[in-house]
Amino acid sequence: MSTSIDQLVERIRGHRCYDHPVFDHWTSGNPTAEVVGALFHQIQKFCAVTRPGGRFPEALTSFEFSRESKLLQEIVESEEDHGPELATMAGYILNRAAGRAVFADLDDQQRVEAGLKEFSDKILGSLPGYDPTTGLLVQTRKAMAVFDGRQAVDKESTLRNLGTALALEMISNRQLIPGEKRCLVDSGLYRASLDDPEMHYLLEHWGEIGAEQMHEENAIAAVGSVLNEETEELITEGVDAFLDNLANLWDVLDSALLASGHREAALTG
Ligand SMILES: [Fe+2]
Ligand SMILES: [Fe+2]
Repeated sequence: MSTSIDQLVERIRGHRCYDHPVFDHWTSGNPTAEVVGALFHQIQKFCAVTRPGGRFPEALTSFEFSRESKLLQEIVESEEDHGPELATMAGYILNRAAGRAVFADLDDQQRVEAGLKEFSDKILGSLPGYDPTTGLLVQTRKAMAVFDGRQAVDKESTLRNLGTALALEMISNRQLIPGEKRCLVDSGLYRASLDDPEMHYLLEHWGEIGAEQMHEENAIAAVGSVLNEETEELITEGVDAFLDNLANLWDVLDSALLASGHREAALTG
């Protein structure tokens, strides 16, 4: 019997990425401004490659999945302009963490992103495999590489991309955005509110009427109608590639920056 969309959704909900504690450790660890900058650099770079559709919508149409292509295209269009808003929020939070205006102009996306990279270089630059040019960890590059598949138009890549899209949207809506809301807003660490204009990125993404809710619904509809005995293996591969690689990224950020692992190791000797 083939996998149902409900079973695929359950597979994602059951993956350790779905409940990863990285944002709760951010809250309890109350990291320094430098660490906040390094975290945002890696997260921002990862998020940036998840937004463009590449050739994925066009490939779906070529296999006569035109309804699915439209659903994916809606997600891609709703992601436009999110890069500048994420940079504004990151700069705002970092300023609050530092207790001074490290970034004077929060609308200067290039300046903010360059500053985040500098913090990343300083804090993470000695880790094995760190790329000084991009400031990316090996794990960040691997998580990003899953989205290279969107440049391919063959059927196998397209089916994998569908699985990846489903996992991405479920994780965004259920783990990443709620996690950011808990550590950036609810924690009170940064005296930030969803009503602050600088936090518009989170307001736009979070909750029942947030962008991610629509994305998740679209992705479930698109994958649900393509899933059958012939497609399930490749779709599941795409789901797992996303979840495994992102979980590895959360692990390294957690252990290298939020020190939960170090602290426990120190306690148990
Ligand atoms: Fe977005
Ligand atoms: Fe999304």
